[in-house]
Amino acid sequence: MQQKKNNWIYRHSLSARICHWVMALSFFYLLYSGVMIFLHFPELYWGKVGFQGYPAIFKLEDWGISWEEAERLGDRRWGRNYHYLFAWIFVINGIVYLLFNGWRKAFYLKMFPKLSELSYSSLKSFLANYIKSSEKKDMSAAGYNVIQKVSYVFILFALFPFMIVSGLAQMPAFTAISPELIDLFGGRQTARTLHVICTVLMVLFFVVHLVQVFAVGVKNQVRAMITGSYERPKSELEIRK
Ligand code: HEM
Repeated sequence: MQQKKNNWIYRHSLSARICHWVMALSFFYLLYSGVMIFLHFPELYWGKVGFQGYPAIFKLEDWGISWEEAERLGDRRWGRNYHYLFAWIFVINGIVYLLFNGWRKAFYLKMFPKLSELSYSSLKSFLANYIKSSEKKDMSAAGYNVIQKVSYVFILFALFPFMIVSGLAQMPAFTAISPELIDLFGGRQTARTLHVICTVLMVLFFVVHLVQVFAVGVKNQVRAMITGSYERPKSELEIRK
């Protein structure tokens, strides 16, 4: 992390900033178009088979929205066009991000928690401090705290790749050349159901991410993601004195 002025730090590289906003835009469109596709077929199944009338593991009807109503709300044609477009933007953006950042040791030091940070006693004292003092919520200005690290690593290296693989398993053009992918999931319906479950996990992550951004100072956080420069909060400077 490069020092700028005494209370300013250069927090995000240009490539990280561009990739972040491209990812945010693609996530928005993938989610919106995914919901449009789902509404057109508002039931989920497990295994190889799934059709209206077949035993489903999830039915939107059970939540008060009938199949006909859902179909009216959704738009599979529009959804598919945008989902496929942004799926590739999302994948290419992820590759570009890793090409720019994945070769740097500093990237892994910044993103991955140390084993010592994951010990029970260290997590307990971190959470106790975090809950006790709102002032100290800004302590992670120069780097990520352990909870951020765990959630970013989980989303970047587990959820994102899983979304791509379960997405590919639903693409007839891809499974025609690689049918083993469907077998790996135990059926296209399972791949689709897991894709939707991970969508819900991502939405939860996104909500927590937004709450955290607001909790530690939305202006400073968003400015850092646009310009790269982050103003270290007074509380952190005092703690370091
Ligand atoms: C990361 C963000 C993503 C989100 C939030 C998301 C969400 C969704 C949702 C909610 C559906 C509807 C499921 C259904 O009812 O069939 C869907 C379908 C699908 N997704 Fe994604 N998805 C994402 C990324 C991807 C990626 C990266 C790919 C491709 C590599 C992909 C490929 C597909 C395919 C092929 C379908 C089935 C579309 C169809 O029935 O024609 N998705 N997605």
